[in-house]
Amino acid sequence: MSDTFTKEMARNIYYGGGFAAFLLLLGLTFDTMRVLPERDHRENITPSVAHGKGLWEKNNCVGCHTIMGEGAYFAPELANVYDRYGNGSEEAFKSYLQGWMAAQPLQIQGRRKMPQFNLTSEEVDNLADFLIWTSRINDNDWPPNKQG
Ligand code: HEC
Repeated sequence: MSDTFTKEMARNIYYGGGFAAFLLLLGLTFDTMRVLPERDHRENITPSVAHGKGLWEKNNCVGCHTIMGEGAYFAPELANVYDRYGNGSEEAFKSYLQGWMAAQPLQIQGRRKMPQFNLTSEEVDNLADFLIWTSRINDNDWPPNKQG
């Protein structure tokens, strides 16, 4: 073996490494697409969940909140807000969210404010259904603690 590093060796490492990384990317992409349906339980996306997702986007909740770690870090993570306040009951969570959305903005000095969105109670239920569905996605227990 020669003890000089030739251009040819560098080229082989470049193409070989690039090709190996590309194969790895393809493999991981296929694996992700394969496991997604059983992780996100897409069979449970009702029209209300879909409508809630639309409201989530239209009102730019993600401009302040994170959901599964994605979004803005101004306000609490909401992928697990159902676990925080629902106590396992969808009804309890819906009445909590109705109360919370109606009470904004809280007039508490020194606390960050959330705007009033003037949503109908049906729309708030749609948002609740979306957040309940999101909380059941298998996201490897993200965030690591309940307070998110
Ligand atoms: C302008 C920024 C902003 C936007 C936009 C926003 N929020 Fe908030 N939200 C906040 C802040 C700040 C808090 C924390 C307020 C507090 O604790 O007093 C909060 C708290 C919450 C909580 C309670 C979370 C907890 O763990 O206590 C829920 C639920 C919530 N927001 C839902 C929503 C939804 C749904 C939307 C979209 C319709 C939304 N937020 C849009 C700023 C925002």
